[in-house]
Amino acid sequence: MSKKTASENESSRRSFLVILSGFFMALIGGVMGIASGIYAIFPAFNKKASKDLSWKSLDLIDKIPDGISKHSIISNKQTGWAISQTEQIVWVVKEKESVNVFSAVCPHEGCTVNHQSSKFICLCHMSQWKLDGTKTDGPTPRDLDKLDHRISDNKLEVNYQNFKPGTPEKTPLA
Ligand code: FES
Repeated sequence: MSKKTASENESSRRSFLVILSGFFMALIGGVMGIASGIYAIFPAFNKKASKDLSWKSLDLIDKIPDGISKHSIISNKQTGWAISQTEQIVWVVKEKESVNVFSAVCPHEGCTVNHQSSKFICLCHMSQWKLDGTKTDGPTPRDLDKLDHRISDNKLEVNYQNFKPGTPEKTPLA
């Protein structure tokens, strides 16, 4: 039976330490990788939180005048954990008990839709719509984009969404 020399012992001790530190590095890397993966994908599964962000309060329903009124809201867009905010315009058409809310983003190429006497108009390429949102003229591929709304605590709330421009179908953008 041969005895190991001191240098062989030192060499195998070093090898053991190298393997051990490699194992711990791999373990730490694995744990951090799993934690980062969960952190990155969790918002995609948190649909309720994303959805609730899109409901915006406009005003007390009694304070919104009959006819056409313009409102600005701050829209939140969630990308992963980051939330960016942009100001958006919506048009409210109120006739006694009937309320419609329209996005002011033109369905053609995204310019801002304005109100002019008895119609809505986009000055970029002169698309026009009736006050009920039906398209009447110009290159717009569809009616104005109607937004879901509700009355909660006597306030008019709108579920703000952006839709894909340039298509006949109203397709929500993520
Ligand atoms: S962007 Fe509105 S009509 Fe073209």
